[in-house]
Amino acid sequence: MIVKLLLDRKRAGEELSPKEIRKLVRAYTRGEVPDYQMAAFAMAVCCRGMSPAETLALTESMRDSGTCLDWTGIVSVPTADKHSTGGVGDKLSLVVQPLAAACGLAVPSLTGRGLGLTGGTADKMESIPGYVAGLSLADYRKVVADCGCSLTVQTAEIAPADRKLYALRDVTGTVPSIPLIVASILSKKLAEGAGTLVFDVKCGAGAFMKTRSEAAGLARALVAGAQGAGRQACALVTSMDEPLGFAVGNANEVQEALDVLRGASRAHDVADLSVELAARMVALGLGLPVEAARARCRERLADGSALRRFARMVALHGGRLDAFEAAVADFRRNGPAREVRAGRAGWVARIDANGVAEAAFALGAGRAKASDAIDPMAGVDLAVTRGDRVEAGAVIARVAAADAARLEAAAERVRAAVELADERPAPRPAVFEEVR
Ligand code: URA
Repeated sequence: MIVKLLLDRKRAGEELSPKEIRKLVRAYTRGEVPDYQMAAFAMAVCCRGMSPAETLALTESMRDSGTCLDWTGIVSVPTADKHSTGGVGDKLSLVVQPLAAACGLAVPSLTGRGLGLTGGTADKMESIPGYVAGLSLADYRKVVADCGCSLTVQTAEIAPADRKLYALRDVTGTVPSIPLIVASILSKKLAEGAGTLVFDVKCGAGAFMKTRSEAAGLARALVAGAQGAGRQACALVTSMDEPLGFAVGNANEVQEALDVLRGASRAHDVADLSVELAARMVALGLGLPVEAARARCRERLADGSALRRFARMVALHGGRLDAFEAAVADFRRNGPAREVRAGRAGWVARIDANGVAEAAFALGAGRAKASDAIDPMAGVDLAVTRGDRVEAGAVIARVAAADAARLEAAAERVRAAVELADERPAPRPAVFEEVR
């Protein structure tokens, strides 16, 4: 294979064969193709795109660059997972995964640490004292076999070609390309081995995809790619203009998810969207109509089965939920915090998700580089949601951090993010569309 000739053809807009793509990825993973040539390839894909066949070949060869999990003989029920493209206050995995498990699925879910404004699912879970997110694949299998779900950080054995290529894309301006994003996300999800994949593709100010048409395009490509690789799949395109729920941070998001699992939270958007996503997993995985799957999810949330799955999963990962809740309550009473008050009376017309995420980052809830430490207790707790009426001087949020010097600037950022208007905003659906 002469890589320069492949690059010439890709630059000219020619379609490469699956065999050529497989050879390229294999050689790159082994270190036989230098980064500068792979970066040129990624840029050519950004400019010229890829056919569905090319995207599938790239996805499958990145998947096959590492371990592919097989759940046969380990679990006796169908497997399914949810993937979110990420948003502010997105703690849905903490509810969806145990909920789907409580409905009769096994949910092998390899998750990530956050890089950027807020923590990832693994960071959130690690705010629970004792919780080990970095399980070996052997221990991860045992946890899924025992309780039907596990939130474990993705190990180095899964899709190493994607890890290498993503690091290169990150520094060469080649992240925003639908085929590259699809191959990156799907290679990891396919390697997990779940038979059904449900995608939550977020769009809006706090999301990777800013517009509905971009988000719908990514949703269609993810679903087509997953189906092309032999999985059952669907996607929901959902709103990420406002944060999900009231909590944005790490420990406070886990506490909010626990409250949702107990049916004791005001975060109805988190509960409702969790049910919608879990219902799609259950419908596809168990072959039920969506209505019946939704009813089963609502029942398993209300009767505490999903909460019990979550508690069991946390215990199997070494986490201590009692100690966690006591620490959160103690920090809320005694930790450094500031209230944010409304400067005027009005209707909450918009809460800029990105502004809230920037405040959470300034408080210490995210990391700028992989080696940075996260403050698990740092975060923003909104007191209002879009459509609420507030009076002048009312508390609209609370910001908290171990480092009190960070509070003032973060409180200002949150105040600016909550937009008050004279008119009540029109209701907006949480789910814009479904792609099957
Ligand atoms: N998330 C991924 O895992 N890969 C991408 O390319 C973009 C988002």
